[in-house]
Amino acid sequence: MAKYKIAWLPGDGVGNDVMAAARIVLDALKLDAEYIHGDIGWEFWKTEGNPLPDRTIDLLKSTDACLFGAITSMPNEEAQSELVPELQAKGLIYSSPIVRLRQEFNLHTNLRPCKAFPGNPLNYRDDIDLVVFRENTEDLYSGVEFHPLPQEVFEVIAKHNPKIKRFEKAGLENIAVTLRINTRQASQNIVRQAFEYAKKHGYKTVTVVEKPNVLRETSGLILREARKVAENYPDIDLWETNIDAMCMWLLKNPQNYGVLVASNMFGDIISDLCAQLIGGLGFASSGNIGDNYAVFEPTHGSAPKYAGQYKVNPMAMLLTVKLMLDWLGEIEMAQKVEHAVATVIKESQVKTYDVGGSSTTLEVAEEVARKL
Ligand code: IPM
Ligand code: MG
Repeated sequence: MAKYKIAWLPGDGVGNDVMAAARIVLDALKLDAEYIHGDIGWEFWKTEGNPLPDRTIDLLKSTDACLFGAITSMPNEEAQSELVPELQAKGLIYSSPIVRLRQEFNLHTNLRPCKAFPGNPLNYRDDIDLVVFRENTEDLYSGVEFHPLPQEVFEVIAKHNPKIKRFEKAGLENIAVTLRINTRQASQNIVRQAFEYAKKHGYKTVTVVEKPNVLRETSGLILREARKVAENYPDIDLWETNIDAMCMWLLKNPQNYGVLVASNMFGDIISDLCAQLIGGLGFASSGNIGDNYAVFEPTHGSAPKYAGQYKVNPMAMLLTVKLMLDWLGEIEMAQKVEHAVATVIKESQVKTYDVGGSSTTLEVAEEVARKL
């Protein structure tokens, strides 16, 4: 029996292309693992009305970790029109399978390192080393939404907070509401993870990226928890910034920051910005990490127009493999992967179109495998 069972979920679009690249490197490392394919994505939404079939949930439960490619997500109307005829008008609602996975498996921590590798011509600067900790299960992504706003809900809210009354004249049928729900536990946890990481890897600062001056209750709660957690780490400074200002500071002085921590949506936004600073989504890796299980995926999406062309940059996925190896405890292998990726970037001989080259996804992976 292999040491690890890994759920293998290519998903949609270029997910397949980059997973093939991952496999080249994992095989070269001779990781003692069995890879078990799972169904997820748009195809299963269209034909089964569920992009994350129960059999895939079961598969994940029987494995040690999951590697995931990419997913296509669309707003509800487009999603409806793509269903096979017999499933249309059944009132099925499309919800992003990756968001569901994060919530169902309580993968509370989204880890997104953004480090500039020397020699990457797309680096905004060469001295950037950011690590985003994004809360991954709640906030505006909780999935508690209304449209129209039911009368009873309106009345209950009005009883507790009359500010909502000014919206009544719009007509409840014209009001959409998405709840931003943040708990003390998850807020405390994500900040603690960020500080632990900073401590372990020698970062001097943790910057909390919120908007407590306006979102007094939700961002306020996160900030208050952050201040409490920070007291346990006297050697690391807690910096407090607002999300809007942070976007500006990250363009101005990204080299001044280290670990960033944010709620789900602000973390989503800031992690794309950080990714662009180090060469774009082609270099951005991520891990969705819970207490006993984790799903690793590159930050990029499914890029349908490039699907199957083996054109896209596999570095994001290869760095994602590195995160998975770290989490499994295969530290040496993880270091090898990062080192090989760094070498291939530095030599700049084998590279995909986004970095000005013409190598394929798989050629880059093979080159990385040779440098292991
Ligand atoms: C990400 C993506 C997802 C998210 C989408 C695909 C639902 O943007 O992982 O950052 O918003 O979390
Ligand atoms: Mg995103």
